[in-house]
Amino acid sequence: MSDLWRQVAPMALLAQVRMLPVRLEDLQIGLFLIEGEVYAIDNLCTHGNACLTEGTLEGHLVECPLHAGLVDLRTGRPAGAPITRESRIYPVKVEDGHVFINIVASAVEADGEARCGQSL
Ligand code: FES
Repeated sequence: MSDLWRQVAPMALLAQVRMLPVRLEDLQIGLFLIEGEVYAIDNLCTHGNACLTEGTLEGHLVECPLHAGLVDLRTGRPAGAPITRESRIYPVKVEDGHVFINIVASAVEADGEARCGQSL
């Protein structure tokens, strides 16, 4: 595979909203802009059926909108109950005004077909 990077969103849009849900193939990914850095993480909370991009930012943590669990966007690790399972994070780069993510080099495997914002 020659090019592992996929263009997912214009940087100008992410700069406006700071939290942006994107679809890439079968993946639902949340983009977050914090202090000039872009982070990409599986958007479905590992605790339940909620989109992290509908949550609240607290520094580099996002608070899930459903049960207020915390996830560290830098590592994907849980940072507050009731979340106990790590989220998959993705390498990010910004080029020519667009956000790219690398789905092959992500750190943790996906584990299911659930979609945030839909009934399980
Ligand atoms: Fe996210 Fe419960 S669904 S903390």
